Amino acid sequence: MTSRIPYRTLSGTSRLAGVMGWPVSHSKSPRLHGYWLAKYGIDGSYMPLPVEPKNFQDALKSLRNLGFSGVNVTIPQKEMAMPECDELSDRARRIGAVNTVTFAKDGRVLGDNTDGFGFIENLRQEAPDIDFASGPAVVLGAGGASRAVLVALLDEGVPEIRIANRTRKRAYDLATEINDPRIKVVNWPLDPADLADALLVVNTTSLGMVGQPKLEIDLEGLPKTALVTDIVYAPLITDLLAQAKKRGNPVVDGLGMLLHQARPGFHRWFGIDPEVTPELREFVLSPD
Ligand code: ATR
Repeated sequence: MTSRIPYRTLSGTSRLAGVMGWPVSHSKSPRLHGYWLAKYGIDGSYMPLPVEPKNFQDALKSLRNLGFSGVNVTIPQKEMAMPECDELSDRARRIGAVNTVTFAKDGRVLGDNTDGFGFIENLRQEAPDIDFASGPAVVLGAGGASRAVLVALLDEGVPEIRIANRTRKRAYDLATEINDPRIKVVNWPLDPADLADALLVVNTTSLGMVGQPKLEIDLEGLPKTALVTDIVYAPLITDLLAQAKKRGNPVVDGLGMLLHQARPGFHRWFGIDPEVTPELREFVLSPD
C-alpha cells in the first residue's frame, strides 16, 4: 500500500542555500527562508551551516563546488567573506562586509550586503510616508550595524546624520572612512539640541537587547513626528521604542530589517522576490 508523504521532498534539481556562522544555532534565517520555500512551493532547501572561522574559506569553496546557489554569512564571518569574493557589490564594499553570497554559473563568487536595504525597506513598509530627505537622522552606535545603516541613509538622500557612540573615536573613524560631509559626530549621551529637529532616531547599539543593559536616553525635545526605530528585535518593543511610543512618536521595531534583508538572497537563489507579511513575522517569532 502506498501512503501519501505529508511534506515536500527534494528533487535531483533542488536549489540549495543556507547560512554560515559560528555559532549559527540562534539564527532565524532557516525558519524565515523555510517559510518562503513552503509558501511559494519551491523545490529547494535552506540550511543552518555551523562553520568555525578557521574553516571558513574551505567551506565557502566547498559549497560552491557542491552546487549551492548561495549562502548568507553571519557573525563573525561577514568581514572574512570580503576577500573571498571575486566581485563585490558597491554597497558591500562601502559597508565593508558581506552578508549574502551568490555562486554564479561560471563559478565566480559574488558578495553583497543587504543589511542597509533591509533597514530602509522595513521603514518604507512600516512608515510609508517617510521622506528621508526631509530632515536629519540621529544614529546611536558605530559598529558594523551602524555602518550599514549610515550607508543606506546616505543613499536615501538624508541631509545630515548625527552619530553618537560611547567610544567617540570609533564614531570618528567610521565618519572618516565613509567620508561624507553629511555625517557629524555628536556627544554620547546625546545633547537635547541634537534631537530637536530630527526626522529619525535609530538605535544600532546592542543596548536594550535581552541580556544587555538598557539604553538610557532622554527623548525630551524630540519632535513628536520623529520616527524612532531600533535594530534590536529581542525584545520586539525595546525600552527605547516603549518610551518613544508613550510620548506619541511613531515607532518601527527591528524584526522587519531581518526579514527584508533576506529578500535579495532569496530572490537570487530561488527566483522569487518574497513578501514580508504579518503572518511571516508571527511565524519567525514563534518558537521552533
Ligand atoms: P554590531 O556589529 O552589531 O554593530 P559591534 O560592532 O560590537 O556590533 O557594535 C556594538 C555597538 O554597541 C557599538 O556602537 C558599541 O559602542 P562602543 O563602540 O563604545 O563599544 C555599542 N555598545 C555596546 N555596549 C554598550 C554599552 N554598554 N554602552 C554603550 N554602548 C554600547
